[in-house]
This record gives sequence, structure tokens and C-alpha cells, in this order.
Amino acid sequence: MDIDIDFDDDARSDSGMTAVSSTSQSPAPSMYSFTSSRDGRTLYREIAGRKLNAQNDLYQLPSDDNEHNRLDKQHLVHLLSVGRLYTAVEEIEEVLADNAPYQKAVLDLGCGGGNWASAMALEFPHAQIVGVDLAPTTSRPPPPNCRFEFDDFTLGMQHYYNSFDVVHSRAVANGVKDFEWLIHEAAKCLRPGGVLYFIEGNMELRNSFREPAEVAFGQGGPGQSWMARMCFEAYNTMKSRGSALDAGVMLERWMNAEPEITDVKYDVKWIPIGPWDRGVTPEETRQLIHLGTLMRQNMKEYARSLVPLFLANGFAPDLVSRFIEGADKELDDLSVHLYLTYHHCWGRKVGSPNVSAAQSAISSMIGSPRTDASSDVDVDDNDSVRAASDVSARSMLSPGPNAIPVVWEGQSPYTSTAPVRFDAESVYSGSLGSVSMSISDDVPS
Ligand SMILES: C[S@@+](CC[C@H](N)C(=O)[O-])C[C@H]1O[C@@H](n2cnc3c(N)ncnc32)[C@H](O)[C@@H]1O
Repeated sequence: MDIDIDFDDDARSDSGMTAVSSTSQSPAPSMYSFTSSRDGRTLYREIAGRKLNAQNDLYQLPSDDNEHNRLDKQHLVHLLSVGRLYTAVEEIEEVLADNAPYQKAVLDLGCGGGNWASAMALEFPHAQIVGVDLAPTTSRPPPPNCRFEFDDFTLGMQHYYNSFDVVHSRAVANGVKDFEWLIHEAAKCLRPGGVLYFIEGNMELRNSFREPAEVAFGQGGPGQSWMARMCFEAYNTMKSRGSALDAGVMLERWMNAEPEITDVKYDVKWIPIGPWDRGVTPEETRQLIHLGTLMRQNMKEYARSLVPLFLANGFAPDLVSRFIEGADKELDDLSVHLYLTYHHCWGRKVGSPNVSAAQSAISSMIGSPRTDASSDVDVDDNDSVRAASDVSARSMLSPGPNAIPVVWEGQSPYTSTAPVRFDAESVYSGSLGSVSMSISDDVPS
């Protein structure tokens, strides 16, 4: 395998970066329109033929169409493992119910290709969804009640304090130095009673006994894994550059230590890499084969996404090639059985959501009470009143001072609200509109 390294920061963005204008269908305020020829130079750079964000040097995975396609597969893995868009079903359904005089709102930190944010916009059409990323997708318009912004959330989110009912963040630890700070800052963005929800993976891969997998060195040997070696090296490299890579296993402790958060819950999903795992029933086995097949595709592509990180941090190109060839082979012939774990952790912001108090505050300011809401007003609930006045002060959530909203022309491809079923194809088309993918070639009969 040949690997080219190119640090040309004048690199032009890829094909998906062009079609933008201020005539977007999006209701989001348009302060700025993204244009590839102008902004591709400042917001992106190129390493080893991949396009990376140019705002935050800590995060050295690509932000191009290939990566967003990979993240779509990973999103589907999450859907299949959880059964829907979130494990915190009771809490999120309660807090996003369409029962308030203000628009419910969801913030997705590190939204990437926007798959989760867009799917949430379909599931909660009355809510406003905001996705923030160093380099969100610019090639796939979201549904009308969803918008994306270019921003580094580690610069602070004061502009969003007390504004959201759900703050979600998945697989962002690589771009964060101080994850406990992030938990605190994200909690401040919530209204009282809002849900804070993190998901992080653990790069220490496990074997079929759920023990740490044996890592391949030298020429490798029986039972040793190149995929585990690659994840081990990526972990060490990212961690030595300052990333909070232990977030997955630390989430529960950190969330419990956060004074703004209460009712913390935690869950771990074990994802087989490759279709090797078996369930108790034929149906369970079928599900595990779907999951493993998708995860294998995801991890093979992840191996390629790690190339810029490895090359920029001194790994020899032929060693990187050996990692990838070894990982491809062992995942194809299933000579090693690996799991990756995803750690889900969520909690509620202290204080209870007080829709009545919020309505009172808004009504007194805009003079148009909703007649279907309760008149039981607790004016002593300062948090709720403050939240309500924040909302009325800006009828639409304003982007941060450094943020660049992404604006498209053209229709969103996300149109279907098909229910999530445990069938890879229907889950995918149900969540991601017209994007198509088949895993059938990869599934053994
Ligand atoms: C592995 S991807 C996951 C994307 C998405 N959450 C998903 O699950 O499909 C991590 C994303 O977080 C973004 N990210 C990492 N650090 C960030 C930061 N400090 N500010 C904004 N976005 C960040 C990256 O640009 C990337 O798109």
C-alpha cells in the first residue's frame, strides 16, 4: 500500500463542499454562507490525501465525505445495538415532549456527518436541533428543523447556557483535553431537568472472553491482533497529544461528580467486530451478525482514517501499511474475535423542568399565552423563569461568536420517519433518508 503525505494547507475541499447559498430552506439564521473556494482554505487542511479540520489540532481524524460515510455506518451500529437513537428513552421522551410554550431544543456536540442530529430532527419535528462540529458535513442538507455550525465547543458555550432540553455528544473525546470541564460546560447549556447524554468508545479492544485482546508485534502470531495493535497505538498517540481518551470508562464517575447533574445512569454495549458472535436464539444470532458485519466495515475504514494521525506523528508508512493489511486479513478470515465497547452515560440537570413558570415568563413578555398549558405557575422557580426569558430573548437560538452556520441550497435527503426495525437496510433508510448502503455481500450465508 502506498501512502502519500501532503501537508499542503491550501488544499481544496472535496466535491461535497460547494453547493451553498443564503437561499437555504433552513430556518436557521444565516450569518454566513460556506463557500469551498474561500473557506476550504481556512477551515480544512490535507494530510495523506485526507481532509482534516484546521481549527483544532488535537483532533486528527479526517472530516471528509469518506469519514462521514464511515460515521453513518457507525451510527447504524449504535442504532442496532441500542434499538433506537438513545438509551435514555424515558428521560428524553419526557423532556422533549411537545408540551411547552417555547420550542424544545437539542444540542449535538461534535455532530460529524449529522446523522444523529438529523434523525432526532425527524423523530421530534417540533424541536430545534443544533449540531456543532469543527467540520460538520457540508454535502448533505439536514431536515428543516436542524442546523449545523462550524465551531470548537472547547472554546466555551456561554452563548448556549440554559437553552437546551437535551445535550448529546458521541465519540468526541479525541478532540477534548478536559472532559470533566466539557461535562460541566454542557450541563450549563441545559435547562433545569434537561438530559445530558454522552457516548464514548473504549479503544482497548477485548477478545471473545471479554478480556484485553492480545496485540500483534513484529510479524504477529496466532491469536494476536493487528486491529488491537492499531487501536493501542492510536490510543497512545492521541493520549500523548492530550486527548481525554479514557472518557468512556470514566464517564460514570465524572458525571456523578458533576454538581449540576443528578440521576446518573450508565450502560455498556459490547459490539463484535465481524460476524463471529452468536446469540441464544436464531434471531439474536442474526442481529449479532448484522451488527458484527457493519462494525467490521466501520473498523476497516477507521483503520484508514487513522493514517493521517499515524503519519503526522512519526509512524513509518510501511508499518502503517502492515497494520492495515494485518487488520483487514484477520477481520476477513475472522482469525481473531474482537469486541469494542461503547459506554453510554446520562443524567438530568438539577432542578425540575417547570413549563408553567416558563410559560408565565414568556407570556408576560410577549403577551400570547398558550391556552392548553397549566395555569399552575411557580414564580419562585428562578431557573425556569430565567430559562424562559432566555428563550424569549432570542426566538431562535443564536450561534456562538466564533460559529459559522453551514447553509445549503437544495432539499434535505432526510425525509423518512420509518420506525427503527432490526434490519440493517430499513434502519438505515429510515434514519438517513435517501442514503443507501447494503451489507448483504458481507454477511455469510
Ligand atoms: C468520531 S466523530 C463522531 C461524530 C458523531 N458524533 C457521530 O457519532 O457520528 C467525532 C466528531 O467530533 C468532532 N469534534 C471533536 N472535537 C471537537 C471540538 N472540540 N469541537 C467541535 N467538534 C469536535 C469532530 O470534528 C468529529 O466530527
